[in-house]
Amino acid sequence: MEAAIAGKSIVIVGASAGIGRESAIAFARAGAKVMAIGRREDKLRELAAEVDLEWCAADITVDGEPQRLIAEAVSAFGGIDILLNVAAASPMVAIADVSPEAFLGVFASNVVAPSEVCKAALPHLNENAFIGFVSSETVGRPRHGLVPYGASKAALEEMVIGWRVEHPNLRFSTIRVGATIGTDFGRDFGAEEIGRFLEEWIRGGHLAAEMMTPVEVGVDMAELVAVAYLHPTVGLTDFALRPPGPLATMG
Ligand SMILES: NC(=O)c1ccc[n+]([C@@H]2O[C@H](COP(=O)([O-])OP(=O)(O)OC[C@H]3O[C@@H](n4cnc5c(N)ncnc54)[C@H](OP(=O)(O)O)[C@@H]3O)[C@@H](O)[C@H]2O)c1
Repeated sequence: MEAAIAGKSIVIVGASAGIGRESAIAFARAGAKVMAIGRREDKLRELAAEVDLEWCAADITVDGEPQRLIAEAVSAFGGIDILLNVAAASPMVAIADVSPEAFLGVFASNVVAPSEVCKAALPHLNENAFIGFVSSETVGRPRHGLVPYGASKAALEEMVIGWRVEHPNLRFSTIRVGATIGTDFGRDFGAEEIGRFLEEWIRGGHLAAEMMTPVEVGVDMAELVAVAYLHPTVGLTDFALRPPGPLATMG
């Protein structure tokens, strides 16, 4: 990672596990000032025991929490150079079975709450600040059981473009991620649902032959974000981190 990232202040929402956790470690090891956000305090404490960073336990879907976590970051760092939203809800449910409440809940987590965090951060962004939102390569390629999730990521990507249109002086980027094994992404997947949908994923060519690890994706994401941040005259507006091999065809 470029040495110039040392001392920069970075807020990572969704850093208690998976890809966001590994990015937080990579940035902290590069000397950045990192504020790690997640709901699980025990996981954040473990992370802070591993590397030197600040943390704040918060659920971004709860009223007032986006503002509180940004206030914590500002009080610790004074301003924000990079804001990354990595957090997401990923329920596995067929589109015909999802309740309106659950459907709205996915959008609350994956679209509305990241936008609220961004809104709260606006007055505290330092010059050349970079704001990244993690999306999914499943956008445009819906797969069985993850349609509400995929729809929310498509909405997130459209929202990022909208942020860019309304705030052309700021830098917003979509970071698409592909199949990564060993994160908490599937922690709520039921065995029955997995059995039901796996066959469809294989049939639809949605199962990657190789999967990436959270360390690989987290470190690469941190490095690419650092490059994007440190080179403001070149817009690294959207990029993808995915396993080698062909993409599944469109549905
Ligand atoms: N893994 C994959 O194959 C894959 C593929 C495509 C895209 N992605 C995307 O990559 C990103 C990271 O995924 P991952 O696989 O690393 O998942 P993960 O291990 O489940 O990490 C998600 C992180 O977000 C936090 N989080 C979730 N909801 C939150 C909320 N309401 N408030 C605050 N923090 C919240 C989680 O911690 P707490 O539970 O402690 O809050 C955790 O730290 C997600 O946006 C996901 O959609 C992943």
